[in-house]
Amino acid sequence: MLNKRHILLIITGGIAAYKCLDLIRRLRDEGAHVRVILTKAGAEFVTPLSVSALSEQKVYSELFSLTDESEMGHIRLVREADLVVVAPATADFLAKMAMGLASDLATTALLAADSPVLVAPAMNQFMWGHGATRRNMETLEARGVMRVGPGIGDLACGETGEGRMAEVEDIVCAIGDYFQAAAAGKTPLKGRRALVTSGPTYEAIDPVRFVANRSSGKQGHAIARALHRLGADTILVSGPVGQPDPLGVETVHVESAADMLAACEKALPADVAVCAAAVTDWRPKHPETRKIKKTRRGKSTPPALELVENPDILSRLSEPGNRRPRLVVGFAAETEDIIANGRAKLGMKGCDWIVANDVSAAAGTFGGNDNIVHLITDDKVESWPKMTKDAVADRLVRQISATLAQKP
Ligand code: C5P
Repeated sequence: MLNKRHILLIITGGIAAYKCLDLIRRLRDEGAHVRVILTKAGAEFVTPLSVSALSEQKVYSELFSLTDESEMGHIRLVREADLVVVAPATADFLAKMAMGLASDLATTALLAADSPVLVAPAMNQFMWGHGATRRNMETLEARGVMRVGPGIGDLACGETGEGRMAEVEDIVCAIGDYFQAAAAGKTPLKGRRALVTSGPTYEAIDPVRFVANRSSGKQGHAIARALHRLGADTILVSGPVGQPDPLGVETVHVESAADMLAACEKALPADVAVCAAAVTDWRPKHPETRKIKKTRRGKSTPPALELVENPDILSRLSEPGNRRPRLVVGFAAETEDIIANGRAKLGMKGCDWIVANDVSAAAGTFGGNDNIVHLITDDKVESWPKMTKDAVADRLVRQISATLAQKP
């Protein structure tokens, strides 16, 4: 499975770095070409000479090297890689990746990488359990970075716990699994264009105040990631959210519903559109260009907000015509009579499917990681069990893929 695959291995500064000598040997036994970037800290644990002898390649360490840049260049290093593997991935290095730093050759190469990335974290158990590391790992996984390990066991510091780098055998397996999945045609949406809306919209009252809603964008962003994973050329039009832009997805940032509609129309044509954004229904009719001032506290009359309806993006995308995506999916955030309201929305909006979800406070959908949804189509309703938003995205996108495969 690894025959003639190009793997760029980044060895960072952890004691587990010594195992990477064996990893190089194993990958080469499987037929892979291995190039190595050794960080400065990594070189404290293994020498460039041993890495070079085992990989039979030059070892790269310097960003500002005249000879390396002219011979290979940090961009070519990643462009020629089918997969980038970071092993061991220390807490410090994961933090740099999550932040998007480009302070040395390894981080710069990763920031420029368009190939998939697999990390094998290795650190003390408390470092791995620390909120900062957890958050960094979540950020990276949300961007599509794959992970193997860490395992539980004896740590170099003498403690026992979760933080041990995955065994070389397991890393080789994870790499093999990745290539196998890619080769098995797990990209059935290759060649398809997908448009996703996500997050809330902000409607200006004046330059500092706005009308909005509680949408976190987690579900919409998860759908964009899932479409990209299956190979779709994906455009995400997102309102203001705290989610990172998904890796490999073209993300257009907008604020208002009017801007979101314009960005969606510009993104057409598309094979599928999924409108997961919680578009603010009304906007102030006359947003002030200057901040509305309070006069004396308690004495001024609060401004009356005259609202007008926003354009309905889902309805617009669903309008018949040759620019209509072949499949248009809307969401219905409901607090009661979820299925009945979802069904009514399907008719009203003219879309093909409605994903109706419970956003009552008790369900904890807004901002939470889980969702309970019902997929409503013309002829059936599927009620899915409570799942993570990522799992909802995966299942929805598999159905989108199956439907597009059938549609003429
Ligand atoms: O009408 P309601 O807001 O409940 O409809 C929800 C669905 O319609 C979602 O898919 C949402 O993205 C979409 N929508 C839209 N533009 C609006 C309002 C809702 O695209 N102005």
